Amino acid sequence: MLPDQTALEALHAGGIDIPMSCEQGVCGTCLTPVLRGEPEHRDQYLTPEEQAANDQMLLCCSRARSAIAGPPPRHGARPGGRRCWCGCSVCWREKASNCFRLSGLVR
Ligand code: FES
Repeated sequence: MLPDQTALEALHAGGIDIPMSCEQGVCGTCLTPVLRGEPEHRDQYLTPEEQAANDQMLLCCSRARSAIAGPPPRHGARPGGRRCWCGCSVCWREKASNCFRLSGLVR
């Protein structure tokens, strides 16, 4: 991800399409867990406390504040004990259409 690039722009550059709606950081459709690294929050959806926790981000408008290197961590329990709509441990999407596992983005 380039310094002036949103996470969505970086994903699109990599050929990855994810569910989007407002693309302005207000609806929460693109809410995604942060597995590592530090996001630069530019949304109006998360509370200041949720942004400070740095465990989730809105991909459509937020960026990376830190570089990420090395293999991704194994998926485990999500912050706050939240589970995905489908029960998977990959993400915590609230609708089946947004689930990263069901959409094929993550296995
Ligand atoms: Fe609405 Fe990202 S698409 S917050």
